[in-house]
Amino acid sequence: MAHFEKATSVHDWLNQRLAIDTVRRVMATEYWIPKNINFLWAMGMVLAVTFGLLLVSGIFLLMYYQPNVATAFDSVNYTIMREVEFGWLWRHVHGVAASVVFLIIYIHMFTGIYYGSYKKGREMIWISGMLLFVAFSAEAFSGYMLPWGQMSYWAGMVITNLFAGGSLHADGLVEWIRGDYVPAQAFLTRFFMLHVLLIPLAILGLIGLHFAALRIPHVNNQDGEEIDFDAEAKKYLAGDKAGSKVIRFANDFMAKDMMVVAFYLFFFFYLVFFHYDFAMDPVNFDPADGLKTPAHIYPEWYFLWSYEILRPFPTDPGLIAFAFAQVIFFLLPFLDRSPNAVPANRRGLFKIWFWVMLVDMIVLTAMGKLPPEGIFSTIGLYAAITFIALWVVLPFITKLERKL
Ligand code: HEM
Repeated sequence: MAHFEKATSVHDWLNQRLAIDTVRRVMATEYWIPKNINFLWAMGMVLAVTFGLLLVSGIFLLMYYQPNVATAFDSVNYTIMREVEFGWLWRHVHGVAASVVFLIIYIHMFTGIYYGSYKKGREMIWISGMLLFVAFSAEAFSGYMLPWGQMSYWAGMVITNLFAGGSLHADGLVEWIRGDYVPAQAFLTRFFMLHVLLIPLAILGLIGLHFAALRIPHVNNQDGEEIDFDAEAKKYLAGDKAGSKVIRFANDFMAKDMMVVAFYLFFFFYLVFFHYDFAMDPVNFDPADGLKTPAHIYPEWYFLWSYEILRPFPTDPGLIAFAFAQVIFFLLPFLDRSPNAVPANRRGLFKIWFWVMLVDMIVLTAMGKLPPEGIFSTIGLYAAITFIALWVVLPFITKLERKL
C-alpha cells in the first residue's frame, strides 16, 4: 500500500490517488505541438466535435425511434419529424453531421497524405485512422438502414449481396448476415444494435488509440522539419517561448483549434438550417418495398468512389477491385518507400501521384452518381483502372525519390 498524507484540498486528495497533475502534464500542458502547422491540423478536433454532435443528436433520436419494420419509417418521418418538438432539428443535425463528417475525414486523410504524416514512427496513427474510417463507414451504412425507406432497403440488399463473393455463391453467408433471405426484421434489429451500441463503442476505443498513437511521434508539421521536441520544450520551459519551435497542447494549441472549430460550426449550422436536404436522399422518403426496385440504386456521396471501382468491371474482377480499394489505403505507410516526410510539392513524382489520385477519386465519385451508360461508364472504367494503376506504381516511384 502506498503512503497517503492527509489531503489539503480536493485536488490534493485526487492527486494522491489518481496522479491527475502528472496526467495533465503528459497529456496537455507538456504535450508539445509544433508552431509551423496550419488550419488543416485542426481537422482532427473538428472530427472529434462532429462525433460529439452525432452522439448527442443520436441519443435524442433514440428516444422516439422504433426498430421495427412496421413502425420504423413512421417513427422517423412522422413522430420525430412532425410530432416531437424539435425532433426535426435533431434529425437534421444527425443527418448533416453524418455527411459532413466524411468530408472532413477525407480532408484530414489527404492532409496526412500530402504532408507524409504516415511515415516512419507515425504508422500507428495512420492505421488507427484507417480503422476509424472503416468504423465510420460501417456506422453510416448501418444508420442508413434505420429509417427503413426504399434506399435503406435496396442499399442493404445490394451491399449484403456483395458478401456472396460473385461466382463463389456464398449465399449462406449473405443469409447469415441478414438473418433472413431478404432484409427484414432480423436485419433491421441487428443493424440497429450495431448502429447504436457496438460500432459507437468501437469508435470511442479507436479515437483513444488514435490519440495515444500521436503522443510519442507528435504531430508532423507543414515544412517537413524534424523537430527535437525535448530540446525545444526545454527552451520553452526556460522562458524562451518566442525562440522555441513548439507550444503547449493545452491551452495554447487548443485555443487555436477552437477558433477553427467555431468557424466550422457556423458552416455546419448554416447547412442544418438552410441546406439539410443535401444529406437526405428523396427516394428514402418512400417506405421500403421489397417488390419495387428503384430505377437507380446508389450509395451516399462518400461511398461513390469505391462503388464506381466495383461497377464498371464484370462481377468477379469488380469484387476484387472493390476489395482492393477497401484495404489499400491501410498499406500506404509501407507502399510509400521514400523516407521523406515532407510536403508532396517537394517530392518529385509523388507530387503528381498525389494530385492525380485526388482528381481521380473526385471523377470516380461523380461517375458513381450517374447511371452506368455510354460515356459515363467509359470514364468510370478508365478512372477505376487509373486508381489501381496509381497504387501499383507507388512503391516504384517513391523508391526512385532522392533523399532530401
Ligand atoms: C474520425 C475520427 C478521427 C478523429 C477524431 C481524428 C483525430 C485526430 C487528431 C485530433 C489529430 C491531431 C491533430 C491533427 O492533425 O488534426 C489527428 C492526426 C492524424 N490523423 Fe486523425 N482523426 C480521425 C480520423 C483519421 C483518419 C480516417 C485518418 C486517415 C487514415 C487519420 C489520420 C491521421 C494522421 C496521419 C494524423 C497525424 C497528422 C500529423 O502528424 O500531422 N485520422 N487525428
